[in-house]
Amino acid sequence: MDSNLKNLLSRYDQSQVLNFWEQLSADQQRGLEAQLQSIDFEELKGLINQAFHKTESTINPDSISPLKNSICLPENEKDREEWARARERGHKILDAGKVAAVLVAGGQGSRLGFDHPKGMFPIGPVTDRTLFQIFFEQLLALSNRHGVRIPYFIMTSDATHDETESFLQEHSLFGYPQEDVFLFKQGTMPAVDDKTGKILLKDPSTIAMSPDGHGGMLKAMQRANLFEEMQQRGIDYLFYHQVDNPCVSMCDPAMLGFHVEQSAEISTKVVAKREPGEKVGVLAEFDGKQSIIEYSDLLEEMAQDYDETGRLKYWAGNIAIHIMNRSLLEQLATGDSRLPVHVAHKKVPFVDAAGQQHSPDEPNAYKFERFIFDAIPRAKNPLVIETSREEEFNPVKNAEGNDSPASSQAALLARAQRWMKIARYSCDKKSKIEISPLIALEPKDLEKQFSEGDLEGARIVLSPNSEE
Ligand code: UD1
Repeated sequence: MDSNLKNLLSRYDQSQVLNFWEQLSADQQRGLEAQLQSIDFEELKGLINQAFHKTESTINPDSISPLKNSICLPENEKDREEWARARERGHKILDAGKVAAVLVAGGQGSRLGFDHPKGMFPIGPVTDRTLFQIFFEQLLALSNRHGVRIPYFIMTSDATHDETESFLQEHSLFGYPQEDVFLFKQGTMPAVDDKTGKILLKDPSTIAMSPDGHGGMLKAMQRANLFEEMQQRGIDYLFYHQVDNPCVSMCDPAMLGFHVEQSAEISTKVVAKREPGEKVGVLAEFDGKQSIIEYSDLLEEMAQDYDETGRLKYWAGNIAIHIMNRSLLEQLATGDSRLPVHVAHKKVPFVDAAGQQHSPDEPNAYKFERFIFDAIPRAKNPLVIETSREEEFNPVKNAEGNDSPASSQAALLARAQRWMKIARYSCDKKSKIEISPLIALEPKDLEKQFSEGDLEGARIVLSPNSEE
């Protein structure tokens, strides 16, 4: 064992990770050493301290107040004109090749009970198109339309990387240029015992590590030289989305237009919460700065509070779609300005000093994560833009009920029917329709005449089972 590392462990009182060292094979020893080398022990010491001094609620409710400003959905002609202007401006930004996209796909989707990276989930109501395919096809359509290249950065984790990579290669990136796709892995953080602060071993030769949260994206992008890549390509804006929402409108021109018009460093899309208890973060003011308060941190009485117009005071549900300036992200990637760390109290299986394996029924450990949206209070002129839930937020999160494959598929179907009607196709609630992003990114793209071939080519798909 490297003597510097051994001294380091002893200095930070973490030598228990070597309990089984003598019994490990040379390969296992190398593996454990590599894991240990990846840990920043000074940072970890501070985080353990933070975890042990955390009060019950880290967020003081008196510091939270409702969101002050937002751009709401258009209600009248003047609003519609503003939205049209913003869209026009967004198109110009896309034409100039100033935009890249990032997908965070490191999560394991355990709530959904799908044993693969979530992007592989088949969601198309007619063709079983996967989430990944929908995202790639949108970007392909956009880059063709604007005659530009839009790099797509995909963040994976130890749990999702290999399978994601083989799946995307098997499908030839759904026709997207290889040189514009960048898979990069997020980092990990060790889990520590909640009574002693000692790093846990998952088995005698492996530290219990877990992904460092979607906020880990910044450091991981920097490690993979992706900010440099953006800079070299003259890209100033990064469109951010999560893996679970097939209705996302990638690099939405109106959002881009408003973002630039208002000189925002970060913009966030929201929908009105379905009900007070909906499990979405809310956009609000925290300590006088725009922030996202996670549902677990918002007191129930605050979540239930209505204003005089009958609207929830904390109405603005975070749908995790952002546009962020490259310059801001680069600043937040390193050093003292890194995003804060959230401590989570979780059940973590471990092996004890006697070599006994445990699978706890109660939380026994602290895990550490960063959240990308903690960039909001650090940004100049952060902007919030409302969108329609029906059109743009129908995620796949749970196995059943709200935000499940069934509800998401139904929403995709209803959206396709709505778009066809807007484009004056005859179509009713029984028509099974799926619209490929390669054919239409918005209803007006359907207004041109299509040949039979388009319809047969599974681009617009009218299901043979349609009961029309
Ligand atoms: C998240 C937001 C919530 C928002 C909701 C909207 C957080 C903490 N909360 O909740 O405010 O209202 O989405 O859908 O984000 N991921 C990684 N690496 C990680 C952890 C997560 O890549 O280490 C990715 C996941 O693959 C997923 C996304 O981040 O794409 C969100 O993660 P998830 O844990 O599912 O967040 P939610 O609880 O749904």
